[in-house]
Amino acid sequence: MASAHILDHPLLQHKVSMIRDKNTGTKEFRELVKEIAMLMVYEVTRDMPLKEVEVETPITTARTKVIAGKMVGIVPVLRAGLGMVEGVLNLIPGAKVGHIGLYRDPETFQAVEYYCKLPVDAEERELIVLDPMLATGGSAADAISLIKKRGCNNIKLVNIIASPEGIEAVRKAHPDVDVYVAAVDEGLNDHAYIVPGLGDAGDRLFGTK
Ligand code: PRP
Ligand code: URA
Repeated sequence: MASAHILDHPLLQHKVSMIRDKNTGTKEFRELVKEIAMLMVYEVTRDMPLKEVEVETPITTARTKVIAGKMVGIVPVLRAGLGMVEGVLNLIPGAKVGHIGLYRDPETFQAVEYYCKLPVDAEERELIVLDPMLATGGSAADAISLIKKRGCNNIKLVNIIASPEGIEAVRKAHPDVDVYVAAVDEGLNDHAYIVPGLGDAGDRLFGTK
């Protein structure tokens, strides 16, 4: 069974408090989501394998280490996952980027797919799925299913704020996928929004409400 990792570095907790604040405007919100994604991916990649190499320094030869193993792909879930892409690319500039388009039906809260484009060699990569919010877990579970259908099996999920129900739903649907979150909130309201949460992440990122 995969684990849910709660990333609670003080910088993450501080920045998550700032994006929760309803008075944080679009520009600052976007900047903070980018920074949070960067701090999270630093932790998410902690288990990356290394290999020894030799490097000529100006002084002598150093035996040192570089990243080995699978290449990385990142897959933001549209729309809100887009806000996390730049932060991740700042640390892993060679990562390829796929996109999955899903929106929640406002009546049923079920995820509806409208787009899926992954890197051609996605199945050879470690894929990191990005979405700031894990509410019912339906969008994340469906996004991961879509990715698996294309032959990818090395997947991590990164959400900034999660509900306990969302984490459970993803773990049940995809027990092989490790989930990384910066905060686990109380639960969901009648509209399946995370409480206390931060509201609608897509609207806050793109200023659409
Ligand atoms: C939000 C969010 C997640 C989803 C989470 O997207 O970015 O994708 O809801 O909810 P769930 O866990 O209950 O599925 P939304 O559907 O609002 O689309 P948007 O990003 O285009 O606004
Ligand atoms: N989507 C959001 O953007 N926020 C929530 O709280 C739940 C789903």
